[in-house]
Amino acid sequence: MYCPNEIDRILISEEEIKQKVAEMGRVLTKEYEGKNPLFICVLKGSVVFFADLIREMHCPLEINFLKASSYGNSSVSSGNVKLDVGAGIDFKGRHVVIVEDILDTARTLYALKNELLTREPASLKLVTLLDKPSRRVVKGFTADYEGFDIDDLFVVGYGLDYDERFRNLPYVAVLKPEVYENT
Ligand code: IMP
Repeated sequence: MYCPNEIDRILISEEEIKQKVAEMGRVLTKEYEGKNPLFICVLKGSVVFFADLIREMHCPLEINFLKASSYGNSSVSSGNVKLDVGAGIDFKGRHVVIVEDILDTARTLYALKNELLTREPASLKLVTLLDKPSRRVVKGFTADYEGFDIDDLFVVGYGLDYDERFRNLPYVAVLKPEVYENT
């Protein structure tokens, strides 16, 4: 198995992720059957989770992509959320499902949710693979569907990066602290 030197340990294995994503797909299929939902991938971090999740959805749906970023090349949130909400996407009257990789301070999803609510969707739900509840800055903010709660750790893999690296790892892992402690 490919495991770069900078990895300290695997937190969530490929197999655990696979099972969880299949389970989330079953729940979401039941919820959205017959509603032709619009699944939104929040780039870049959720691209791997998104690709797996939509293939566990056994009903018609549409997909689209948005860009949100807050971290730059640091492992600490900057607090600035940059949203690039595609002007060409029509959310009005649609059952919209935002798919995120990780909920941390919740600044990104809070900003995105508020922006998309102005576009008058029929419904708007948030899905995240990972949640770090102890890091929340937007108090009380939760996703509607989540995969795993994790401790206050900086993680990479399965789409998540550090300085654009490690997105292709098939598991979620913790980096050795020396990799990012000088940023
Ligand atoms: P929030 O706005 O603080 O909730 O941060 C959400 C975004 O920060 C995520 O979509 C990720 O891109 C990034 N992020 C938060 N925690 C981590 C982490 O542990 N590893 C990699 N990226 C993270």
